[in-house]
Amino acid sequence: MGNLIILGSQWGDEGKGKLVDLLADQFDFIVRFQGGNNAGHTILIGDRKFVLKLIPSGILRPGKIAVIGNGLVIDPVALFAEIDQLSAAGVDAQARLRISSRAHILVPAHRAMEKRLAIGTTLRGIGPCYEDKAGRRGIRVADLIDSEHFVEHFDALAREHEATFKAFEIERDYDLDEVRAQYLELGARIKPMVCETALLLNRAIRDGKTVLFEGAQATMLDLDHGTYPFVTSSSASAGGACTGSGVAPTLIDGILGVAKAYITRVGGGPFPTEMLGAEGEEIRRRGNEFGSVTGRPRRCGWFDAPLLRYTAAINNFDSLVITKLDVLDHLDRIPVCTEYREGARVLSEMPAVCSTLGGIDPVYECLPGWQTDTSQVKTWDGLPPAARAYVDFLEKQCDVEVGCISMGPERNQTIIKPGSNFQRLTS
Ligand code: GDP
Ligand code: IMO
Ligand code: MG
Repeated sequence: MGNLIILGSQWGDEGKGKLVDLLADQFDFIVRFQGGNNAGHTILIGDRKFVLKLIPSGILRPGKIAVIGNGLVIDPVALFAEIDQLSAAGVDAQARLRISSRAHILVPAHRAMEKRLAIGTTLRGIGPCYEDKAGRRGIRVADLIDSEHFVEHFDALAREHEATFKAFEIERDYDLDEVRAQYLELGARIKPMVCETALLLNRAIRDGKTVLFEGAQATMLDLDHGTYPFVTSSSASAGGACTGSGVAPTLIDGILGVAKAYITRVGGGPFPTEMLGAEGEEIRRRGNEFGSVTGRPRRCGWFDAPLLRYTAAINNFDSLVITKLDVLDHLDRIPVCTEYREGARVLSEMPAVCSTLGGIDPVYECLPGWQTDTSQVKTWDGLPPAARAYVDFLEKQCDVEVGCISMGPERNQTIIKPGSNFQRLTS
């Protein structure tokens, strides 16, 4: 067992939370390395449902240390709402959470400024907070807990924001004095959890401990590698796990990609295999495809192999986890996009330019469905032959091993393929 990264390989909501929860038991630390409370990782344990936004899903495993790395942007109000919710459910989050002093702090002005950006974001202020980070005027956790100098930092940033508000006629929908006082209070509350998480992790690894890196969003939402500008503002692919945690690439032992057996996207942006009619609605209903953060209906589409080949190349996945296979149980035929056509040109991977994506046609190959309930199947051999053929086809198309298949939200609705890289890396 080594240090593993789990990443979304589509446009998010692939079921990363379920997988992290499943594997967390075998690791000492579970680390989030990018994003903020735009993420929504849903975990079902028996009749209990948890939706984690900022806190790593590993917090649900007793005794595990959950780390919020330097790459995140933290809304402290949202953080404590989540901690309180977990405490009410009997999870001692505060005792097992470590927060990087270098992570950035999100303020209400970031949410107010985001209203100008009309690409269907989660409106949590994520983009504007990362803008301040890149602009080198942001407030970090270290500043928040420094009660002597916090007001200075806070007021300097507020002055910058006021200028932006004036220029773009943005209305301030909060009281600055109240926010300042509230943040001072939250600074004192967060302090016991704050440390140099990069050093904590590196020392732990040196001492033989293991780390599971929990990706949020996904490679197609990655600021550099995704469908820009319809992306989030952080590095949601493999490299981000290192920059966002301070753990070097040479210490990573494996990278797992999570993909739905179909694909979804929330918010605006190109989507070559989108199902616009009744078929899409049926998948949305069966897969309960509604955003875990905003409740928005997720757009649904057929499995897109060129997109997966692209994200597999970016991340060099050791193994793919195919989730929500059960959602396709009812179909008598299942289209899979194998390439794109742009006029006479064939594209075998997702191209970089969004405008191009509007003019490309997905080419489908139709596979027979299995029309059998797979949700209770416990072994690879127990799956209907057509379901195995479907997974084998995805594996071949993506040129990455499929080592794990999920047919339901519960921990025990998971099949691990014997002899796979997945099994080797997780046991
Ligand atoms: P994440 O953001 O990648 O963690 O994914 P979300 O939690 O936003 O969305 C995935 C949803 O699908 C959650 O409600 C999970 O409980 C659920 N889920 C995960 N795996 C499966 C599966 O194999 N089958 C079904 N039916 N639901 C699943
Ligand atoms: P998890 O971790 C799905 C999408 C938003 C929007 C774009 C930018 O649960 O997979 P942002 O608020 O980040 O600036 O929005 O990214 N988005 C997600 N879509 N799952 C997520 O997270 C997402 N986080 C952001 O819908 O299109
Ligand atoms: Mg989600």
